[in-house]
Amino acid sequence: MTEITQQNQHNSNTADLVDKAKQYLVPNYAQQPIVLDKGDGIQVVDVDGNNYVDFASGIAVTSLGHNHPALKAALIEASENIWHVSNVYYQSASIELAEQLAKLFDYPVQAFFCNSGGEANEAAIKVARRYHWLRAGSPAGAAKQHEIVSFRGGFHGRTLTTVTATAQPKYHEGFHPMPSGFVYADYNDCSQQNLDIITECTAAVILEGIQGEGGVRAANPEFIAAVQRKCQQTGALLIFDEIQTGICRTGQWFSYQHFTDVVPDIITTAKALGGGMPIGAMLAKPEVAEALSVGSHGSTFGGNPIACSVATAVIKTMHDINACEKVAVIEQIVKDRLTAINSKLDIFSEVRGMGAMIGAELKPAYAGKASEIVKIAAQRQLLVLVAGPDVLRLQFPLIISVEDLSAGLDLLEKVLENFVQAN
Ligand SMILES: Cc1ncc(COP(=O)(O)O)c(C=O)c1O
Repeated sequence: MTEITQQNQHNSNTADLVDKAKQYLVPNYAQQPIVLDKGDGIQVVDVDGNNYVDFASGIAVTSLGHNHPALKAALIEASENIWHVSNVYYQSASIELAEQLAKLFDYPVQAFFCNSGGEANEAAIKVARRYHWLRAGSPAGAAKQHEIVSFRGGFHGRTLTTVTATAQPKYHEGFHPMPSGFVYADYNDCSQQNLDIITECTAAVILEGIQGEGGVRAANPEFIAAVQRKCQQTGALLIFDEIQTGICRTGQWFSYQHFTDVVPDIITTAKALGGGMPIGAMLAKPEVAEALSVGSHGSTFGGNPIACSVATAVIKTMHDINACEKVAVIEQIVKDRLTAINSKLDIFSEVRGMGAMIGAELKPAYAGKASEIVKIAAQRQLLVLVAGPDVLRLQFPLIISVEDLSAGLDLLEKVLENFVQAN
């Protein structure tokens, strides 16, 4: 692994900056006391010049690593053209990105661009409700078919609407009253009772192909098929939230493509789409998309030409490096290695996930201690994540070489040995 050489350019160190952060930033994040300053490939460097191997990818954002030459070139070129175009005019970057995204589907879709995953889901929920409202003849107030069904353990964002769709009470604390018309069901439960929560009142069902924040839990194919069938019976739209799973992370462009004959009406994506630039997209079948008629929805920054140009470069680069094939190799190496580590340390009750999105659930003896592993890893200059209190989450950069992956996993093994010794 080539080390990035780094000089501290800010005449400041971690402790000073962390003190300042505590004074000036809203304290809503549990932040590691690390101030990252530079990135290159699979490594990042802090302001004190320490290198870290990045197995977190900014929570599934920097899938092409840091400072990728193709993305940097696109960013520089776009910055020399135009930085902002209000959506009262067209601009080529968002049109090009919409076309490239549409080519990833084998059925027509149209794109609405925004700046984050939460906003993409907000747009998806709005278009679903409006689609049914128009079909019901635009009644005063809500249409009968207005409910949004989501699944326990899912995560869909932090806006008031998307956090309501996030069926985890801990995210609702202190924010009541929540918007109405949201109903929850159990993930991966194909029982009639559970599926009957989807009714003629359901505007849309939103789900993740793998629940990321909810513990890296993949959907069962039978569950997805049953949900799609129920949507078809009731006329509810099917929304796949591909914000974390999209853009090759699971070994397909979108996780729904792992399931046979699944045709979502709406797909939302963000995170890796921009390779680090803030962008989100809501992609809908044209007959659904048309419900967002002129004036019904919008975003000042949505479709920003610089973000769209970089996102187009992300898609092109994913094609160029055959990202989905690389991901299959990563998945095999990682799962084999974690299984071998587990035979030695007896630490995980399950290793799961798809592609380069892997979760390792700790045995009950280590319950609640996943964040301890994250801290030990950071001390040993490896960045990893949790998904809840008991699951270690790894989001590998898709550009990683087999050699660097093995070296990073060696480091992880040492971290896990330290953790077991300390417990
Ligand atoms: C599946 C899923 N949906 C939505 C979001 C919200 O995205 P953002 O933080 O960009 O608003 C996330 C973020 O983690 C996510 O994982």
